[in-house]
Amino acid sequence: MVKTILITGGAGFIGSHVIRLFVNKYPDYLIVNLDKLTYAGNLQNLTDIESRPNYKFIKGDILDTELLKSIFEQFNFDGVIHLAAESHVDRSITNPLEFIHTNVVGTANLLNIAKQSWSKDFSNKLFYHISTDEVFGSLGKEGFFTETTSYDPRSPYSASKASSDHLVRAYFHTYKMPTIISNCSNNYGPNQFPEKLIPLAINNIKNNRPIPVYGKGENVRDWLFVIDHAIAIDLLFHNALPGETYNIGGDNEWTNLDLIEMLCSIMDSKLNRKEGTSSKLITFVTDRAGHDLRYAIDFSKINQAYKWKPSVDFKKGLELTVKWYLENEKWLEQIVTGQYQLYYNDQYNDR
Ligand code: NAD
Ligand code: DAU
Repeated sequence: MVKTILITGGAGFIGSHVIRLFVNKYPDYLIVNLDKLTYAGNLQNLTDIESRPNYKFIKGDILDTELLKSIFEQFNFDGVIHLAAESHVDRSITNPLEFIHTNVVGTANLLNIAKQSWSKDFSNKLFYHISTDEVFGSLGKEGFFTETTSYDPRSPYSASKASSDHLVRAYFHTYKMPTIISNCSNNYGPNQFPEKLIPLAINNIKNNRPIPVYGKGENVRDWLFVIDHAIAIDLLFHNALPGETYNIGGDNEWTNLDLIEMLCSIMDSKLNRKEGTSSKLITFVTDRAGHDLRYAIDFSKINQAYKWKPSVDFKKGLELTVKWYLENEKWLEQIVTGQYQLYYNDQYNDR
């Protein structure tokens, strides 16, 4: 094998797309997926590549020091792409400590074992940390996040991701361990767990259930198709200079309400409903605590360095996403009939 890469969180939404891209594109790399399979991890996301000779799955926790030591010893990784995390803002509001354990302590543990394992010779090693634009806080109506925007996280989730970013930066500066970080905006696409806005709305529209829109639906997010994110990760993993950070975004800002209205119209057409039927399900509910108003990314650094830019038009990407969820009913049913129902009742019953 030319390279052996550890990808953490590869059974989740973004991780599974990154694994698929790497396994298909680099048959001479060994891709090792370490995932704890929390509620968000799902091996069904990887059935098309699971039996490839250049792919290996290990069920395990990034907090498990002994396991990490043993797999670093066994595989002698050339690089790590670290996606494993607790990723849902609403859950971080209900249960912040879970986010500190996984996102902060888990990342510190992984950094530490990588440093110990690589410390004799850091050359040709890379620790790539996948982070979020939420570390920069909330924008007003104007402006964009750049790589030099000050960190200003405002939810337990974003604070935990900001902490993990700082730890990665500290390992670069203190120990000269080669690291990079990218901070990406909201991803959407197939395989996203239906706690996040777009798949949750698709599932509710399909089942004629209310679509919960927080506050007045005026919050703005910058949406990127998940495969465009995976392509950016591939480019940065292979080309970026250690110590650098990059912003990745969709150049695609939508208020939540406008986005949900477009989604309703796509769903009406796919479900052969009269135009305007699904938007009647829109229901304004109590706002998220500390809800960030707007995220928007200036991605000129990665664009100028590597010519990366989003390739999927938003309407087309949403149509593809809706099609995927409608064609993968089993995937969705297995999730929404399990623990998800309890989560959904807790989150939304009193809103
Ligand atoms: P996800 O919740 O869909 O997947 C997370 C994965 O991590 C799951 O497979 C889960 O089982 C695994 N995991 C959780 N705790 C673990 C642990 N202790 N040990 C090993 N595995 C563990 O998340 P996602 O949306 O795919 O996000 C992946 C990464 O990208 C996260 O770091 C997130 O912060 C970041 N990110 C997400 C977005 C987005 O829009 N979804 C945008 C920017 C950055
Ligand atoms: O910006 C990147 C981040 O995007 C990632 O780091 C996070 O992991 C990812 O979850 C996402 O965070 P958001 O909080 O922006 O995503 P979410 O899908 O939860 O919500 C998108 C917007 O929709 C947000 O303004 C809250 C709103 N919303 C969300 C849900 C779940 C609703 O109005 N109703 C809902 O039911």
